[in-house]
Amino acid sequence: MSGKKQIQFGLMLHGPGGHMNAWKDESVPADASVNIDYYQSMTKQAEEAAFRFVFVADGLYINEKSIPHFLNRFEPLTILSALASVTKHIGLVGTVSTSYSEPFTIARQFASLDKLSKGRAGWNVVTSPLEGSAENHTIRSHPSHALRYEIAEEYLEVVNGLWSSWEEDAFVRSRTTGAFFDKDKLHTLNHKGKHFSVKGPLNIERSNQGQPVIFQAGASEAGKNLAAKGADAVFTNSDSIEKAKAFYSDVKDRATKLGRDKSDIKIFPGIHPVVGKTVEEAEEKYNAIKNLVSIDEALNYLGRFFDHYDFSQFPLDESFPDIGDVGSNSFKSTTDAIKKSAKENNLTLREVALQVTTPKSAFFGTYEQVAKQLIEWVEEDAADGFIFGAPILASGLNEWVEHVIPILEDKGYYEKTYTADTLRGNLGLAYKENAYRKEAVK
Ligand SMILES: Cc1cc2nc3c(=O)[nH]c(=O)nc-3n(C[C@H](O)[C@H](O)[C@H](O)COP(=O)(O)O)c2cc1C
Repeated sequence: MSGKKQIQFGLMLHGPGGHMNAWKDESVPADASVNIDYYQSMTKQAEEAAFRFVFVADGLYINEKSIPHFLNRFEPLTILSALASVTKHIGLVGTVSTSYSEPFTIARQFASLDKLSKGRAGWNVVTSPLEGSAENHTIRSHPSHALRYEIAEEYLEVVNGLWSSWEEDAFVRSRTTGAFFDKDKLHTLNHKGKHFSVKGPLNIERSNQGQPVIFQAGASEAGKNLAAKGADAVFTNSDSIEKAKAFYSDVKDRATKLGRDKSDIKIFPGIHPVVGKTVEEAEEKYNAIKNLVSIDEALNYLGRFFDHYDFSQFPLDESFPDIGDVGSNSFKSTTDAIKKSAKENNLTLREVALQVTTPKSAFFGTYEQVAKQLIEWVEEDAADGFIFGAPILASGLNEWVEHVIPILEDKGYYEKTYTADTLRGNLGLAYKENAYRKEAVK
């Protein structure tokens, strides 16, 4: 080790890539979102480059205006289980909503993924922004933003409780005595709360990282509080280093106020870099990506953040319309930021739609320039690592591994090795103790 801070990468496995029309690019299979061979090859490439994890985002509602990758894609836990069997070191992080699932089922599924991958699972906790999700689930109507976070908090308590059902050495499996398990090491949750009633215990033991890593994505006040209380890592946006620094210290301060250590919670901004040998080459690549969308597609893309709001009713070349509260019960932190930027910069609807569809990443320029920026971000406490999500995944990942990572290696900020055999270990997080055993140790 160089003694310098090490930059960690996760890979956003987002079908053909982060850009809405990435599927049109020749470097990825057009059916990337449901192509197991492609998913395996991207994951193996990331593992060779010692990425800490792959990350699968998700959603629960589509319509004809959804981005193409969302129309036909793998469910996160299923694809991650398949990827577990062809990899050995890389972490496997999947998104599941606390608003539309049952804690017992999800605790069990992630514990299984954790066990079968030998301690490499992570769960990205989200609360689901889209109203339409309710129409795909029989029982509930879409809860308000505040209620979704209230449910998420209790949900996490239940899942954590279930993951402590069995102490590490509870299963003695003694053929001599005939005892399969030690009764004193079994803990039944008996949770009866406002939103959930779950008896337990869970029917699977803990893994060699204790329990799955908890990621959280959601940057509103309620989102940051949830992260500070219960997340091991946070997936966030990366508009500028100033905003990232403020977010980083805000979340870490909230965590320390709750008695946690700053290093217990890792901040991972999602980045979609566009890089080249020269700035001109990066600019050409950016323009090629921008030209993958029509203005109608851009309006639909923008509308999705506002719960599939129809922006085509407004004139394109006049100021961004005043749409009141629309969006505040959906991707709240994102829609607030879009409205604010439109107002501050006096942008037209066309400008906003095109910018939101093909944002010019803060990580833009030559390989050297972008490597320098990454170092600056970790040195200045704006990030602990990054979730790398190329606009076009296959060519973007190749270029990153071939040209950007070697610069970081040369400068002592990256080592192409895994330092541990679990995801927690590789992220620099401690083994997660069983809640009951922890009590006994105190
Ligand atoms: C960086 C980031 C990534 C997100 N990824 C997902 C996702 O993959 N699936 C999902 O349903 N919601 C995702 N969300 C949405 C949040 O989980 C949440 O449901 C909603 O946006 C409200 O969060 P907020 O207002 O706290 O940001 C994401 C939010 C952020 C900020």
